[in-house]
Amino acid sequence: EKYAVILAGGSGTRLWPLSRESKPKQFISVDGNKSFLVQTIERICEVIPAENCFVITSKVYLDMTKEAVKDLIPISNIISDPLKKNTAASIAYATLYLEKMFGRGVVCFIPADSYVKNKTDYQNTVRQAYQAAESSGKIMIIGVKPTYPSTGFGYIQIDSEDQKGISKVVQFKEKPNRETAEDYVKADKYLWNSGMVAGQLHVLAVGIRHLMPEHYARLSEALTYKGTSDFLSSIETAYSSLEDISFDYAFLEKSHNLLAIKGDFDWYDIGSLDAVSILLATDDHNNSIFGKHLGIDTENSTIYSLDSLITTIGLSDMIIMEIDGMVIVCPKTRAQDVKALVRMLKKNG
Ligand code: GDD
Ligand code: MG
Repeated sequence: EKYAVILAGGSGTRLWPLSRESKPKQFISVDGNKSFLVQTIERICEVIPAENCFVITSKVYLDMTKEAVKDLIPISNIISDPLKKNTAASIAYATLYLEKMFGRGVVCFIPADSYVKNKTDYQNTVRQAYQAAESSGKIMIIGVKPTYPSTGFGYIQIDSEDQKGISKVVQFKEKPNRETAEDYVKADKYLWNSGMVAGQLHVLAVGIRHLMPEHYARLSEALTYKGTSDFLSSIETAYSSLEDISFDYAFLEKSHNLLAIKGDFDWYDIGSLDAVSILLATDDHNNSIFGKHLGIDTENSTIYSLDSLITTIGLSDMIIMEIDGMVIVCPKTRAQDVKALVRMLKKNG
């Protein structure tokens, strides 16, 4: 049996002010279409039955998630992290939870913040990943060809690919620095991690036991209470002691049991403000515009406004956004630093 778990509990602070703590990126739509979360569920539900599709979110976003997905999957398929402890905790919890419920099966984890242009190619790659995970007993990471030296992604160093685009993983490196990312992109032997990971439930569980022993011990202990009234509080106790770390650092960088499969679909993680341009229409000067803008000598910029008319003179490679009374002005190359800005905002109330 095939399962999917959509990871939808991130807070998406790097997209501020587009997304905020109160409305993280999975729930927003940048271009007026359906939200990323709904699009992600609709895409995968054409590959596996809706009753096998799960969403894991954070407790704070539980109501918002229910509201967003109630017509797409059973409400009982929404799992929630009692505390925000990042994707290592969520993936370990969901894996052990599904293993407990169903025994055997193949699961694919899917982030809720990706944007995919050619759905059919995406779905074919996901089908292949399920198949290969089943037949090889390995953990499949779906990679895509990098197009620029992003420091916001994980990089998969691959060996030679077979005809199906499957290769051994030589090394996995999460969020390298700029220099390293540049080397990787030049070397032509690396893929971006799309964040989609597929594996047999018990293969993942064994890997988690080896590489994340604390997570494994605490969560499997708590799961023995499943079906009793103590379950939720025991999960919360388990979470409270877990390290706040992403699955990429805790597992993928350390595992020797990985295969990569290369996806030939257009994939984008709208994970930071510089990526928003992908979803917007461009003008004659390669500006990506949403809302009202008037400019002189303005090029390669992203200008986004819900209410105001934004005017610019002599500008290139900038991001300007205005949403609900909040404004950001930032060079495209500094888009990753929005995270630090949000930390400052929080401190200053
Ligand atoms: N349930 C739950 N709980 N989900 C979470 C949590 C959490 O604590 N934290 C993050 N998520 C969800 C996010 O909503 C998102 O859908 C997904 O997990 C990935 O988290 P991000 O915070 O967006 O990670 P990232 O973009 O920095 O990096 C990851 O994704 C890249 C591709 O999009 C890594 O896997 C990179 O290696 C990868 O290239
Ligand atoms: Mg992301």
